[in-house]
Amino acid sequence: MIFKNLVELSEKNLMKKKLNNILINIFKKHGLTYEHAKISSKALINAELVGAHSHGLSRLKMYCDRINKKLINPKPKIKIKKISQSISHIDANNSIGFVAADIGIKKAINNAKKTGFGLVGIKNSGHYGLSSYYAEQAVSKNLIAICFTNAPPAIAPHGAIKSLFGTNPICFGSPISKKIPFIFDTSVSMINRGKIRVAAKTGQKIPYGVALDKFGKTTVDPKKALAGVQLPIAGFKGSGLAWMVDILSGVFTGSNHGGKVKDPFDDFTGPQNIGHLFIVIKPNLFVGNYNQRIRENIRRIKRLPRIKGVKEILYPGQNKYAKYRKNSKKSIEIPKNILKEINKLNAI
Ligand SMILES: NC(=O)c1ccc[n+]([C@@H]2O[C@H](COP(=O)([O-])OP(=O)(O)OC[C@H]3O[C@@H](n4cnc5c(N)ncnc54)[C@H](O)[C@@H]3O)[C@@H](O)[C@H]2O)c1
Repeated sequence: MIFKNLVELSEKNLMKKKLNNILINIFKKHGLTYEHAKISSKALINAELVGAHSHGLSRLKMYCDRINKKLINPKPKIKIKKISQSISHIDANNSIGFVAADIGIKKAINNAKKTGFGLVGIKNSGHYGLSSYYAEQAVSKNLIAICFTNAPPAIAPHGAIKSLFGTNPICFGSPISKKIPFIFDTSVSMINRGKIRVAAKTGQKIPYGVALDKFGKTTVDPKKALAGVQLPIAGFKGSGLAWMVDILSGVFTGSNHGGKVKDPFDDFTGPQNIGHLFIVIKPNLFVGNYNQRIRENIRRIKRLPRIKGVKEILYPGQNKYAKYRKNSKKSIEIPKNILKEINKLNAI
C-alpha cells in the first residue's frame, strides 16, 4: 500500500508502526531478509525519534541505491571469528552497516557478560547510522560501551586543504541505574556531514566557521562546503581524534582507512568497507559501587553554579533522551522530498 501523504497519518504510535512496516517492506523488496530488514528499519526510525534526521529516512534511498548497484550485499554471509573469550573479529561481507553493527554489539555484550570485557572489531561493513544506538544496547544491560566507526573523507587533517578523515564519531555510554543513561556521542567535525547534506537539499545556510570551500575560504554555502572541506573540532586536537578513530576502526580491524572509505552517496566504484570497533565493559570491574559513584559524580557537576540563562547543567544524552520521549508520542514528520523517495521505493 502506498501512502500519498504519510504526514497526514498522525495518530499516536500508528505512524511509527506503519512507517516500520513500509520500511521493512522496502528493505525486503531490496533483498534483505525479514530479520535484517527489521533491524535496519528500527535503526532508521530511532534516528528520526532522537531528532537525527540526517541519519534517518534521508538515507533510505542511498542504502537502496547501493543494494541495487551490488555495493551492499543484501544476503551477506557474516563470519564471526573467536580470538578469545573476550575478543571477536567479524567479517560483515559488505552487509548493510546496521546489521553488521547489531551483530557486533550483541557479540561484544555477550563477551563482556562472560569475562567482564568484550572487544569486537568489524570489517567489510557500511554506514551504520548513530553510534549511540549501539552503545544504548549495552548500557541497557548495565554495561559501559565505547563505539568507534570510520566514515568517508570529510575533514581535512590539520594543516591540509584536502579532506581525508571522516566525521568519525566517538561514543561513550554508561549506565546510571534507573536514570537516563550517560551517552556521549559526537562526530569530531564542527558539524556532522549529514546536516550539511540536509541544508544543501533544503536550501539552507550552514553556520560560519564549520567548513571551507575548495579554495580554503570559510563558507556558509552547504554545496561549496561539500565540495570543500569540513573543519575538525578544536583544530589539531580534533584532527588527532579523527585520526585515532581511523586507526582503531580502519587500520586495526582490517577495513578501509586513510581516506579510502567510499562516500555512500556518490562513490559507486566499490563497497565502503567501513570498520567499527566496539568495547563493552562491566562497570563493577574495579569497584563494587559503580552506579552509586557515577550518580555522585553527576550530582557534583549538576550542583555547580551556572552561567546566566542556563537552567540546568545537562549530562550527555539527556537532551537526546528528552527528544526521544517527546517524539515517541507523536507521528514522525517526513519532508516532502523524502516522502516522495519513500513512496517511489515502496512502489517498485
Ligand atoms: N556513522 C557515521 O559515519 C557517523 C558519522 C558522524 C556522526 N554520526 C552520528 O551522528 C550523530 C550526531 O553527531 P553530532 O556530532 O551532530 O552530535 P551532537 O552535536 O548533536 O551531540 C554531541 C553530544 O553532545 C551532547 N550534548 C549536546 N548538547 C549538550 C548540552 N547542552 N549539554 C551536554 N551535552 C550535550 C549530546 O548528548 C551528544 O552526546 C551521532 O549519533 C553520531 O554517532 C555518525
